[in-house]
Amino acid sequence: MGDIGKADFRNVMGSFAAGVTVVTTVTDAGVPVGLTATAFSSLSFEPPLCLVCIDSRSASHAAILASRKFAVNMLASQQVELSNRFASRSEDKFEGLAHAPGEATGCPILEGVLASMECVVSDVLAGGDHSIFVGELRRVAVHVGSPLVYFRGGYRELADG
Ligand SMILES: Cc1cc2nc3c(=O)[nH]c(=O)nc-3n(C[C@H](O)[C@H](O)[C@H](O)COP(=O)(O)O)c2cc1C
Repeated sequence: MGDIGKADFRNVMGSFAAGVTVVTTVTDAGVPVGLTATAFSSLSFEPPLCLVCIDSRSASHAAILASRKFAVNMLASQQVELSNRFASRSEDKFEGLAHAPGEATGCPILEGVLASMECVVSDVLAGGDHSIFVGELRRVAVHVGSPLVYFRGGYRELADG
């Protein structure tokens, strides 16, 4: 087997259509933090666990390690702007943005999302240049709408959405 380069890895993973999330947390000082993430999955029913894989160089990584909690905001099809905003490294991603603290954890829940879940970190596992944050679900919300989908480097909507 030859070495798999970054471009090969990106191309093959891009073929796996993914829902888009914004994972958020809040610092002790009350500052909201977040990033766009597609590396999100359910993990366990009993107890109810999910996981999200986060680049150890990102600002959100340090913030979630410290706060030990996060919210997963599942974006709706009309929220491309939010995905781009939270994929940037700007420091004021929440500037002018409608959001509210989640009732279970205080982590920011963004207005208009398709669904959200609040989690308390139960484990942090090393995974190369990322960490796997395992979260135990504390509160969920599901709304009407269709998802934002990321596929082969671009945003898509479900054909029958
Ligand atoms: C569609 C999409 C999916 C992404 N998925 C992830 C992911 O799963 N994990 C991750 O660490 N970064 C992911 N990123 C990159 C982060 O959003 C990006 O590095 C961000 O600038 C990090 O912000 P921060 O340093 O403020 O935390 C993704 C970006 C895009 C556009």
